[in-house]
Parts: sequence; C-alpha cells; structure tokens
Amino acid sequence: MNNIRKPLLRVLEGENLNPPPIWLMRQAGRYLPEYRALRSQAKDFLSLCYNPELASEVTLQPITRFGFDGAILFADILLLPHALGVDVKFVENVGPRLSPIQTQEQLYRLKDKEEIHETLNPVYETIERILAKLPPQVTLIGFAGSPWTVATYLIAGKGETGQVTSKEFIVRNPELFNQIISLLTDATIEYLSRQIEAGVEVVKLFDSWAGSLEGLYFDNYVTKPNAHIITTLKHKFPHIPIIAFPKGSGMKLPSFVSNLNVDCLALDQNVSLDIVDKFLPSINCIQGNLNPQTLVSGKERLESETQNILKSCYNFPHIFNLGHGILPTTPIQHVEKLVKLIREI
Ligand code: CP3
Repeated sequence: MNNIRKPLLRVLEGENLNPPPIWLMRQAGRYLPEYRALRSQAKDFLSLCYNPELASEVTLQPITRFGFDGAILFADILLLPHALGVDVKFVENVGPRLSPIQTQEQLYRLKDKEEIHETLNPVYETIERILAKLPPQVTLIGFAGSPWTVATYLIAGKGETGQVTSKEFIVRNPELFNQIISLLTDATIEYLSRQIEAGVEVVKLFDSWAGSLEGLYFDNYVTKPNAHIITTLKHKFPHIPIIAFPKGSGMKLPSFVSNLNVDCLALDQNVSLDIVDKFLPSINCIQGNLNPQTLVSGKERLESETQNILKSCYNFPHIFNLGHGILPTTPIQHVEKLVKLIREI
C-alpha cells in the first residue's frame, strides 16, 4: 500500500475521513498486561527505551491489540536531557528524577547537540525495527518534548505542579534560561531530524506544561521555540507532517496557531470543540480530545462524550485521541469499546 493511502496521513494532509483515524497518547503503557510483562524483562524504564528489540515490540503492542491507525515510537521526552549528559532516573511509583541544571557551570558541562546521538542511536534503531513489522495502513509517529516542558524537568529535577521552580528561575536567571531553551531547541531539531531520517512519518511536539506560562513568557518560551523547531524541520523535510500539543494553552491557542506553520493541533480535554473553526484556516486538522478519565469510567458517559466529539468534528479533518495520556487504571474493555464506537459510526 502506498504511504499516501494511510488514513492518518490523509487526514494530516487535510482530507476529512469519517470515521476518523484513531490512536491514543501513551497507548503503550502500564494499562496493558503485555507491556507490564515486557517491562519486567528490562532492568528499568530507561533500559527499556534504549533496547530496540523490546522498545519496538512495546510500540507495536497496542497496534496488534486494538488496530489503531497510528503507532507512536516507544521512548520518553526525558531521553533528550539524558543524552545531553543529565543524570535521569525513573523511580518506581515516584516519577522521573534528574540532576538539576541551575548554574552556568552545570550547563557548560552538558554535551553539544551533535553528541546526543551516541546515546540516542538505539532509538533510531527502534524506528527501523518498528517499520519492518508495521502493518501497511498504520502510520509511525516520532516525537520529542518541546523546550519549555523539557526545561521544567531539567531545572526542577522532577515533575512539579505549576512548574513554580522553573517560573522563578526565568525571573532570576533570564540569560541562563535563554541558553537552556536555546540548547534544548537545537538538540530537539537534531533529535527529530534523525528520527525522520530513520523513518518516522509524522512528528509530534509535546508541550505538556505550555499552560503554565502567560503573556510574553508564553510567546517567548512556548510559541517561539515550537515555531523555530517546526520552521527548521519543514525546511529540511517539507513532506513530514507535524502535530503540536501545547497542552493547557486555552485562550492562547489562536495566537499560538497563527504563529506556527503546523499541520495539526492536538487539543486537551479542556478545549471546547465549538471554537475549533478559529484555528482551521491555518491548519489541516485537529486531534483530540476525550477526557482520559472518561475512558477509565466507561459507561454511558464514554458513549455520549465520544459521540459529541465525533459530531463536533464531522465537517473537518480530525484524528481521534485523548486530551492527555491514557491512565494506567484504564480497563482494556473500555479501549475496545471506544475503538468500536468510532469505527461503527
Ligand atoms: O505515547 C506512547 O505510548 C509513547 C511513549 C511515551 C512515553 N512518555 C512513555 C512512558 C511518550 C510520548 C511519553 C511522553 C512524555 N513523557 C511526556 C509528555 C506527554 C505527557 O504525558 O504530558 C512527559 C511529560 C513525560 C515524562 C514522564 N515519563 C513522566 C512524568 C513519567 C512518570 C509518570 C508516569 O506516567 O509513569 C514518565 C514515564 C513513562 N513514560 C512511562 C511510559 C510508558 C511509564 C513508565 C513505566 O513503565 O513505569
């Protein structure tokens, strides 16, 4: 089958398909027994990410089980800081822990952007292995974290509600913060370029904490770095569609979109689909935005919210997804039911 016929790629090019293609953020993860089984074979989460044989298998697990239209590379947004020389650990039941970068000396000690590939080479090999086994109608999505979101982990050394440490850091050390954003921006372009060269067909930028910045800070550290990455990638790889996910941006979305040459805007569950026509002139399609908690709960609510999304998006190109990552407590039957609901419209 020719690439151009893949449903996800057709919608990313602006074609309206009903039913829409579907995939779910964090679709390979702990809610799947087959994931938990493979995960226990690896020493820790990072070893799983850097093991091409296991990581490619994990990527394909949700495709085999549910028949999604998109496969997302199994990796993590924190592999990039790890490849830059930051100490990164995923502590069981606690979350990621990093050696914080808060001084000029600590920043100087990091690697140059060209050196990240030494660590990230297994990720590119994972991509090649996935492609060898990917069903012909399924699209492979690569990804990275956007600079602000990755910077929040780098500066605080962990995930933090409200990203307070990083917001204070911007005010106290504006020059150093600019250097951090600039390094992350350039390294992200390097990383995504290699993912594309290895064979991913779409890239997605996760700006999960975009919503915590306001005004000029939002323009400078959310919109500008995303715009720079997208412009550079579009110049190098004009045929590769890009999805942006500035989670929590709410009322700032119209300004974000008008400053970016992006193919698809991924929406979180707090965005009303009634305002989507505001963005449509400048992008090809919308992705989203079922509440992950609704998928955990199931029942009639799952049906009604899914129908509402499908109805709101009936007249324009849409990729069905959640508004954020699938929760580990999600029952598999609810995912099966969701796929059935969508495919049977
Ligand atoms: O979507 C996919 O299936 C592809 C793989 C993927 C993972 N993380 C695997 C993962 C992707 C796209 C990510 C992105 C990611 N990672 C983001 C952006 C998206 C978002 O959710 O906002 C962020 C902020 C991270 C950082 C991260 N990784 C955190 C905060 C955690 C710990 C919390 C948690 O859910 O466990 C991780 C770990 C992680 N990344 C897991 C998976 C499957 C769970 C690890 C395990 O097996 O225990």
